[in-house]
Amino acid sequence: MDKLLLCLLVIVNFPGAFFQGNTSGKAFVFPTESDNSYVTLSAPVQKPLKAFTLCLQVYTALTRSYSLFSFATKAQYNEILLFSEKPGLYSVSVGGSDAYFKVPEAFYTPRHFCVTWESQTGITELWVDGKPMVRMSLKKGYTVGSEASIILGQEQDSFGGGFNKNQALVGDIGDVNMWDFVLPPEEIRAVSTNGVSTPNVLNWEELKYETRGEVFLKDQLWV
Ligand SMILES: *[C@@H]1O[C@H](CO)[C@@H](O)[C@H](O)[C@H]1NC(C)=O
Repeated sequence: MDKLLLCLLVIVNFPGAFFQGNTSGKAFVFPTESDNSYVTLSAPVQKPLKAFTLCLQVYTALTRSYSLFSFATKAQYNEILLFSEKPGLYSVSVGGSDAYFKVPEAFYTPRHFCVTWESQTGITELWVDGKPMVRMSLKKGYTVGSEASIILGQEQDSFGGGFNKNQALVGDIGDVNMWDFVLPPEEIRAVSTNGVSTPNVLNWEELKYETRGEVFLKDQLWV
């Protein structure tokens, strides 16, 4: 075998290596409950954030609490967290403070979420399936730290760890995109129906990720 190819295969198969690729049309599937299955995302550019928009799609039948997106820094484990508390209640955390959003329940349907936050006003928005919940306020004047550990499938209670299987996602997650600014409402509506707005922090079409445990990249069921 060609030495370069062999070398590449070794790198690609090495546990703990980051893959990079276009995951458009795909979803990470967590078929079983565990405290050791997860996906780590790598943001190509790491810088402190004064604002952000985070969007993703989730399909699950869970009725217990679970994490949708866990962004931890060494100083703050709940630096950015999107969490389902129970059916009809979601929390958004920024810098360790929480805002709770009541969301109309929907069973057995994939759901699209966008979270926006800006330091200048503290205004925090949660959009579900392209519809805005009532805006709330979190951490006015705060700056979200860089060098984050970004994890799908588990909730971090320490930097890159502290998982609890009672907070793990069982189901599918995809279309995870993040911007370093607040997307205007019309763009959020467009993103929630697969519209284009190129993300500059996390880009699902150029995703750098690492999987651990029972997690598989499969075709999206919601396309
Ligand atoms: C990723 O794949 C989709 C579907 O094949 C395509 O439309 C899109 O342009 C690709 N994106 C990049 C950055 O290559």
